[in-house]
Amino acid sequence: MNVVILGATKGMGRALARLCAESGDRVFLLGRDAEDLRRSCADLIVRSGQHQPVEFALCDLEQSASFEPAIAQAKQALGHIDAIVVTAGQFATQDDLESDSALLERLLRVNFVNTVLLCEAARKLLLAQGGGTLCVFGSVAGDRARKPVILYGASKAGLAAYLNGLDHKYYASGLRVICVRPGFVKTGMTAGLRPPPFAGEPEQVARDVRAALRSPRPVIYTPLVWELVMSAISVLPRAVMRRINF
Ligand SMILES: NC(=O)c1ccc[n+]([C@@H]2O[C@H](COP(=O)([O-])OP(=O)(O)OC[C@H]3O[C@@H](n4cnc5c(N)ncnc54)[C@H](OP(=O)(O)O)[C@@H]3O)[C@@H](O)[C@H]2O)c1
Repeated sequence: MNVVILGATKGMGRALARLCAESGDRVFLLGRDAEDLRRSCADLIVRSGQHQPVEFALCDLEQSASFEPAIAQAKQALGHIDAIVVTAGQFATQDDLESDSALLERLLRVNFVNTVLLCEAARKLLLAQGGGTLCVFGSVAGDRARKPVILYGASKAGLAAYLNGLDHKYYASGLRVICVRPGFVKTGMTAGLRPPPFAGEPEQVARDVRAALRSPRPVIYTPLVWELVMSAISVLPRAVMRRINF
């Protein structure tokens, strides 16, 4: 597969890019820091057994003008694109977001407004070439509103609604949309937070997502146990949601 990844310099995106390169996929990276991207490309070339070139283009989720040129560069390098994967996103605690409106505006813009704009550019390119997969990382925090992740969760809930709509409208035209909903995964994003039971590892997520790219489904939970956790949470009465702090 020819796979474009935004977010491969860290965390789950990095684990996915490594797994793809090791498995023989051709990978093209998007990201915001040229030096980090160069290092990541060099790492992936070694992991591919020097069999695949790995190139990158600059794409910053805070700069919407960078989206179309970056995706066009990926298309030029790869020819056909099988999948565009967006793992990039930002997190901040509910307390920090409630007390810092600039931080809140930035997170909402990056995780929702600009991710949707990037997906629109990706959608157009994939449809123009006859189809392909758009795989975007939401979160279980976007499922049911919970006190510790109200604002971050709202950004991911909006994104999930948008991705659902894309699937409805463009499935028949060959667009395959996957909304990945990770539970708590141990990455830089969650460093410093107390891991709950069932916390996952990025490598496990990478395996689940690479398998999903081959057999796309509109929604995947990873690690899978989070599907059970979230379906239990979805049926809790409102009175319980008001009392608990999970
Ligand atoms: N970790 C979890 O428990 C968890 C749970 C549910 C959902 N998620 C979601 O899963 C996704 C991946 O999370 P992760 O834990 O792997 O995160 P991570 O380790 O913090 O990595 C985040 C990635 O996003 C990139 N990024 C951030 N802001 C960007 C911007 N403005 N422009 C371009 N790239 C940007 C980072 O690039 P730089 O290297 O340039 O910083 C990095 O590659 C995120 O969307 C997150 O919201 C995470």
